[in-house]
Amino acid sequence: MAGCSPETRRAAAWIGSARRVVVFTGAGVSAESGIPTFRDEEGFWQRFPPEQFATWGGLTKTALREPARVAEFVIALVEPIAKAAPSRGHAAISELESFLDVKVITQNIDELHQEAGSSTVREIHGTLFDVVSAEGRFLWRVSRRELIDTCERIRCAVSGVLKLPRMLLAARRIMGWSGRRVYRPGIVLFGESLREPDWSHAQLDAGNCDVMLIVGTSARVWPAAEMPVIAREAGAKLIAVDPVEDSGAELWLRGPAGEVLPELIRMVRGD
Ligand code: OAD
Repeated sequence: MAGCSPETRRAAAWIGSARRVVVFTGAGVSAESGIPTFRDEEGFWQRFPPEQFATWGGLTKTALREPARVAEFVIALVEPIAKAAPSRGHAAISELESFLDVKVITQNIDELHQEAGSSTVREIHGTLFDVVSAEGRFLWRVSRRELIDTCERIRCAVSGVLKLPRMLLAARRIMGWSGRRVYRPGIVLFGESLREPDWSHAQLDAGNCDVMLIVGTSARVWPAAEMPVIAREAGAKLIAVDPVEDSGAELWLRGPAGEVLPELIRMVRGD
């Protein structure tokens, strides 16, 4: 470990002596899995302005005016997630569990932490793999294959006439209505309440940890951004892992999660 920075050594010492660790993650932890972030230069919200695409109201209006643009948005959101596999960053986070009490609080909707083996994951912005009722009640799960097929059907639907009705038909596995019941993906858009019970559990976890590792988030979206605030007020030490943002943490391990985290975990293990 001769090449480890003093910051990495310090972070490893904090984690090594912690009783409870929370890992709070955002889009950056999945960037190396091929899923775009939201606010980077090539980010999602640069291509699809949030006023038009980040709320159900905005999306509905945009769909009525420009259905092909909404199809582009849905495919750009869903397809990379459906095709993704966990990165070295996700794997390193799950490995922490073999020697520590770890809870993951994620803003991501891609389920890559669970796939990498993390056992306690609070999905505060929901998951793309659940379909829920208009009131947020769980209805059914969709597989990666079904999400990929849905994207292909939507792509075909927008190439012809009657785009909007054909698009709705193509998307029926993940959203639509049957009888009087409206259903939709189980993800949180702007202006909606965070998913429960995940959000309540996340608040308790954040207030109950000794160290919070903040990975790949600009921490600009509230109320999710309360997580580091709650942890700090409860006396936890904060460590940020990010190439650009220090998230106001005491220690900033600057770099991509897939490089920084495996090195940090090796250090904690004492290899
Ligand atoms: P952002 O796009 O705001 O921030 C992503 C962060 O990841 C930035 O700080 C990048 O520097 C960092 N990053 C990029 N590549 C990285 C890498 N390889 N390793 C580590 N970090 C990297 O995404 P979030 O903070 O997740 O919410 O955004 C929060 C919420 O805003 C999302 O959950 C979503 C969005 O609007 C809703 O839609 C409700």
